Amino acid sequence: MSKPKVLIAFYSRNSSTELLAKAVAEGAIAEGAEVRLRRAREFVSHDVMRQSPGWSERATEMNTKYEAPTEADAEWADAIVFGTPTRFGSICAELKAYIDTLGGLWFQGKLNGKVGSVFGSTSSKHGGNESTLLSIYAPMAHLGLIIVPLGYADPAMFKAGTPYGATHVSQRDSVMPDADHLAVASFQGRRVASVAQALVRASARTLETVA
Ligand SMILES: Cc1cc2nc3c(=O)[nH]c(=O)nc-3n(C[C@H](O)[C@H](O)[C@H](O)COP(=O)(O)O)c2cc1C
Repeated sequence: MSKPKVLIAFYSRNSSTELLAKAVAEGAIAEGAEVRLRRAREFVSHDVMRQSPGWSERATEMNTKYEAPTEADAEWADAIVFGTPTRFGSICAELKAYIDTLGGLWFQGKLNGKVGSVFGSTSSKHGGNESTLLSIYAPMAHLGLIIVPLGYADPAMFKAGTPYGATHVSQRDSVMPDADHLAVASFQGRRVASVAQALVRASARTLETVA
């Protein structure tokens, strides 16, 4: 049986979402998945980026580590996990721009039945952690993804995260995700991979029965 294929498409400027993404990847790999870790790209000019000290440099650094997510990555995947820092209580434009490139696959019904899940980071505790994750539930539903939340299905959930997905509070980018938050992200990776594997197996069984 082939490995479940998991695409983790995230955006991060100051690395807290990046660290969650890596923990999601580790969890998925531990569950036997093949993983593609991709960083959505900025589309503002370097002049705009330079207004925020370090943005341009960190973007260049991360972009050397991670390829940009593509339409082909989404088609390849059995599961797509989105990661975003909060922007005014909602998804960041960079990740949304990637999601908006998936219209062609959506039109052809090629995303139907894949697994979808989401994680993210805010600056403050009540700054939109949950609203941001829920804002991505809507596009995931439109794309036809089978949304996998976390619930309280693992002991890690009683220490950090939300039932909607792994989260983190960076306190103005001064704090990186600790072991408890990374444990939730790792659980998310394991859960997504195991649900994707189950769906792939069920679909293979259906095809065998039909044949
Ligand atoms: C334009 C903009 C809007 C933001 N809006 C919010 C917000 O509504 N609530 C919040 O808590 N943090 C907000 N933040 C802060 C980031 O979401 C936060 O610093 C996050 O931890 C960054 O994640 P990263 O380290 O992966 O880049 C905003 C940041 C920017 C640049």
